[in-house]
Formats: sequence, C-alpha cells, structure tokens
Amino acid sequence: MELPFAESYKIKMVETIRRSTRKEREVWLKEAYNNLFNLRSEYVYIDLLTDSGTGAMSDKQWSEMMVGDESYAGASSYLKMKAVIKELFGFNDFLPTHQGRAAENVLFSLLVKNGDIVPGNSHFDTTKGHIEFRHAHAVDCTIDEAFHPTQYHPFKGNLDLNKLEAVLKNNPIEKVPFIVVTLTCNSSGGQPVSMQNLKEVYGMAKKYGTRVIFDSARFAENAYFIKIREDGFQAKTIKEIVKEMYTYADAMTMSSKKDAIVNMGGFIGFSDRKMYEEASVYNIMFEGFVTYGGMSGRDMNALTQGLLEGTEFDYLETRIKQVEYLGESLKRFGVPLLEPFGGHAIFLDAKRFLPEIPKEEYIAQTLAVEIYLEGGVRGVEIGTLLADRDPETRENRYPEMELVRLALPRRVYTNSHMDYIAATVANVFERRNDITKGLKILKEAPIMRHFTVELERV
Ligand code: F0G
Repeated sequence: MELPFAESYKIKMVETIRRSTRKEREVWLKEAYNNLFNLRSEYVYIDLLTDSGTGAMSDKQWSEMMVGDESYAGASSYLKMKAVIKELFGFNDFLPTHQGRAAENVLFSLLVKNGDIVPGNSHFDTTKGHIEFRHAHAVDCTIDEAFHPTQYHPFKGNLDLNKLEAVLKNNPIEKVPFIVVTLTCNSSGGQPVSMQNLKEVYGMAKKYGTRVIFDSARFAENAYFIKIREDGFQAKTIKEIVKEMYTYADAMTMSSKKDAIVNMGGFIGFSDRKMYEEASVYNIMFEGFVTYGGMSGRDMNALTQGLLEGTEFDYLETRIKQVEYLGESLKRFGVPLLEPFGGHAIFLDAKRFLPEIPKEEYIAQTLAVEIYLEGGVRGVEIGTLLADRDPETRENRYPEMELVRLALPRRVYTNSHMDYIAATVANVFERRNDITKGLKILKEAPIMRHFTVELERV
C-alpha cells in the first residue's frame, strides 16, 4: 500500500497540559470578562490563540542558544544573522528588533507622516495601528474574492491592481510612502499572495514612484503555497522562491515569532543603504544598538537557525498538512469555514455558524467564548472587536467577515489534539441553535481594544 504522510520530526521534550471541567471554565471565563486574552494559560487545554512565539524550537536552535555572543557591539550572532538574511532575502542591511510591531514602529517612524496613505492587503492590526497612530490611513486593496469565505481562489491574499492603481493615481505620490504586502495575509485568513501579484504590485509601485514593503511574518508559508499552487514553481526550492519573492520588495518588516520559529524576535531588512542608515537612529532610540536591537545574542542565533529550518520544504509540508487535517475534520462535521484553508490557522465563519446573533453583539467573540466553554480550546476573534472603532467617527467598524481563528503553534500539538479540537467545535455546532445572545462591551481601550476589552453576556 501507499505509505501515509507523517511528521518530519520526532519529539525530544514535552510539556504537561491539563484538562478542566466546564464548571471551572465558566468561573474562569466570568473572571476574565469574556475576553480570552485575560485567561491564565493554565486554564486553557489547547491554546490556539496565536501561532506567534508559541512554536517549539528544534534541538539545533537550542544548541545555538548556548553559543550566542552577548557582546554589545559587533557580536558574531549579529553577523551570522546578517549573512542568513542576505542569503535568504538578498538584503545587504538589516536591523534587529524585539518583535514585529517594533520593526513597524522603527520603520514607520521614518516613513509615515500625518495624512499619508498606505495601501495594502488587509493590513495586520499592529500595522494598521502604527499607521493610524501617526494620523495616516491604511487603505485595503485586497481582491474581492478574499471576502467570500466559500469562494475558491488559490491566492486570496492578492492585491487588486485596479484598487491599488486608483489609490496611486488619485493621491499625490509623496503622500503614499509605500505599499505594504502582508505575506501571508493574516487578516483575510492566512491567505497567500502569488509571485505574479508580487511582481505586478512592485511594477506598479515603481511606475508611480513609491516603495513596496513586505510584512513578512509568514513569508515561508507563502512560498510553500507558491510552490504547490502557482505554475512554474513546482521544481523550485522554498529558498529559491523566497529569494525571488524579495526581488519585488524594497524593505521588509519581520515578526520572527512565526516563520523563524522563535519565541521572541524581529527585524527590518533593507535594500536601500540610506533608508537603513536613517532608520538606525530610531532603532537606537526605541530598540537598542544596531547590532542587537532588543535581542540577546542567543536569541539572534536561534532566530537565524529558525530562518533556515523554517524555509525547509519538509518542515512546511508537515505544518501546513496539520492545518489541512484540522480543516478537513471540521468540514466533515459540517462546520462553516473559510476556504481554502490558511497556512497557519483555520478560520471559522462565525456569521454562518451563529446566524441568529446580531452584528452589534460581537458574533465571532461569542463563538470563541462558546468554544472555550465547551472544551477549553482558546481561539481568537477576528471580527468587530479587532476591527476597532473608526479613528475619526469613533463608530464600530463592522468587517465583512466575522471569524474565529484557530491558529496552530508550530511543531507543538499532535493530530490527536486536532481531533479533540474538531470534536469541541462540532459539539458547539450541534447546539448552535441554542446560542441566541451575544456580548456587550463594559470597558474598552481607545486603540487595539481587543486585547483588554471587558464584556458581558447580553
Ligand atoms: N504582521 C503580521 C502579519 C502579524 O501576524 C503580526 C503578529 C505582526 C505583524 C506583529 O508582530 O506580534 O511580533 O509584534 N501577529 C500575531 C498573531 C500577534 O497572533 O497573528 P509581533
């Protein structure tokens, strides 16, 4: 018989997790004001809040930790990271930062001014936050297919070139400091961008005279999808594809907590020496000296090794097949999902799951809370709470999709955990008609409210 697919690693170290009772979870949830960010991690059995910083490092990454160079300036760890960034992305210069949003803070301090316009594909919330914080505007130019959860498109992260051109044509170009392309597009469901689209976006940017910056948190997963879905890339290695992708970018911001499989870290890559030099000033102010920028030497070492492992096909295939395994299991139970499945997560379509709940009662958050109550599985709302209020009108922004993201940490859970998650969600789906009331806000922060919001049942 044909041999089945199996993981490309075995397990050397384990961490105990404990199940809880529904009664316990009811108390804990109340104490957390129905905000899953407020739960202690020990109250969670399977934690799918994020795939960010939650991965399991390899034996090679741990051994790199032991040989980190903790020198303040010119550490070998920095030089090693610089060489691998050059090898993978082709960028001569980089700045280390402590995580992705810190990279955004440094780069956007240089590039984004009051009144600017930054087009992109469904900007991630910290990216949008850093744009709006500077009184600039993020304009979403994602293709329309991305907003239809059941419509198939191999590259739902793509930018719509007509929408993009309208922004570039109708605004003075000096007001558009760059286009941001998020790889994969987290906010629209972990969906990839095709090489063709990257090339066209870059071409358009150069025609109008602006830059392209890749928000690169899941660049390797994006490259995997290019390899398996886009004509002409089947025979290329992930590293070759990555190299080609970055010929269409002027700079990159990176949250290394995803595809570099570390618990903390980030960086900015630059093709332009002058931009690197100017950004260095902000890095020194906000992060640290240019050769460590908020990271210890051992962390830079683990990150560098993680970049090399994270761009291996076997690793990516294991990872993305696990996401698919969960998606297929949920589909068999009839659970409404966003398709095709993303690279790092399964997104439940809360509007179809709970059609009775009005949008004013936070449909996706209601579903996330029910899933936690059912089985101690923690996902995250990608809906109205996350979309936040309009910075000018202060009205709620209602996004086209209300999603619950079940993000899979890298190399952490087994497929038995996937079966448990699928059964938990299926049980909620069985009793969906009894869930008729949502949530209302008691307290919220003026920006990025989803992290700290307090809610109660309507
Ligand atoms: N860009 C994207 C596409 C992200 O998904 C994230 C983080 C960031 C930037 C910011 O990076 O967390 O290192 O500061 N995403 C996490 C998530 C938080 O759960 O999706 P960071």
